Amino acid sequence: MLDKLKDMILPRQTTFSKITVIDEKCTGCGRCVKSCPIQLLMLDADNKCRSNQRYDAFRCITCQNCMAVCPAEAIAITGEYRVGQGFWKNDDLFETPMTFPDPLGQGGLTNAESATDKLTETEKVIYGRRSIRLYQKKQVPRDLIHRMIEAGRFAPSAGNSQPWKFIVIRNPALIDEINSRCKKALRVHTRLTLPKAWLDKKIPGDPDARFAWWQKIILPLLVKLRPGDTDQRVRGGVNTVTSDPEYHIFFHAPTLILQLADRRAIGGVDYDSGICFQNMVLTAHALGLGTCYVGLIDGLKLHPRFRREVLGVVDPFEIVMALAVGFPSGKIGRFVRREKPRVIWFDGSRG
Ligand SMILES: Cc1cc2nc3c(=O)[nH]c(=O)nc-3n(C[C@H](O)[C@H](O)[C@H](O)COP(=O)(O)O)c2cc1C
Ligand code: SF4
Ligand code: SF4
Repeated sequence: MLDKLKDMILPRQTTFSKITVIDEKCTGCGRCVKSCPIQLLMLDADNKCRSNQRYDAFRCITCQNCMAVCPAEAIAITGEYRVGQGFWKNDDLFETPMTFPDPLGQGGLTNAESATDKLTETEKVIYGRRSIRLYQKKQVPRDLIHRMIEAGRFAPSAGNSQPWKFIVIRNPALIDEINSRCKKALRVHTRLTLPKAWLDKKIPGDPDARFAWWQKIILPLLVKLRPGDTDQRVRGGVNTVTSDPEYHIFFHAPTLILQLADRRAIGGVDYDSGICFQNMVLTAHALGLGTCYVGLIDGLKLHPRFRREVLGVVDPFEIVMALAVGFPSGKIGRFVRREKPRVIWFDGSRG
């Protein structure tokens, strides 16, 4: 029983992906360092990329962005995120190892060039898109934002509700203010979900650090009710984001689009909003723009007055998601590996 609770609060049997840097190839450009969403990498004294142990060890989400942005192909990622026991157990749910896109069933594709003549333009956009966290300073012309929004407007929605509404922010001071407010609010998350010693020392999980008595009581409840917000990778990631004064949750993108939704939408807002934004994201990629969803915008929930009086978000609308938009800095076109699909087929007749 005690072990069950311990594994729920923080899974003990976990393996993470392993990032290997080929020193001979690494030029020390620092692109991977800036692109990692949770600051897992740093440059050492010899200007070589290394694992950054400044915060918690347990947070790599295996997004492979570091690998995708590296111009020298100096990064290799092996292994997957696996938990061996307890509430978070997943090692029996995926077939290892992760693979590159294989739409043609002829072996994985590592980049768009490897199948230029065989893939549709849509497929190339889907596989070639990455979350972009390296932006040029140059502002995005309004007509390109208009094209993204038009693509969103024609997304399907339950009951044709079309519940979306957008706030486009191109004022750096306002984007910075939203960044600070979200980061401040997110500190509540770390205080609730991590041992105080890890917050104070800001170093990798000290195995002797204890959760407070009240955390031992509320964490199992929180985990049960909101597993998506209490996954150890989220907790470690949020600790990084909030402890690093330089971290900008919108990566200094020149444009920020907030997606609002009418909470009375037929069938609920989440699915419609996701489809709408993904239309916009894929269109942006096809137009040569980079985007990154920023779920950390949730922090604004703790700033109702700012939301209402500065951003003009009033009932029945609520902020669903944020999207950083800008021109990508450098080439970010490599495909990445993902978990193998889990599919159940029922073929043929039942008779
Ligand atoms: C709903 C949603 C919320 C996300 N929130 C964030 C975020 O707050 N910060 C961030 O850097 N990336 C965020 N991402 C990007 C994911 O980390 C990224 O999509 C994932 O790691 C896969 O990488 P890829 O988009 O490059 O394929 C979010 C993505 C989605 C779909
Ligand atoms: S895989 Fe993603 S989270 Fe892990 S180190 Fe690379 S960029 Fe960071
Ligand atoms: S992006 Fe590649 S070359 Fe640049 S620092 Fe990282 S590993 Fe080195």
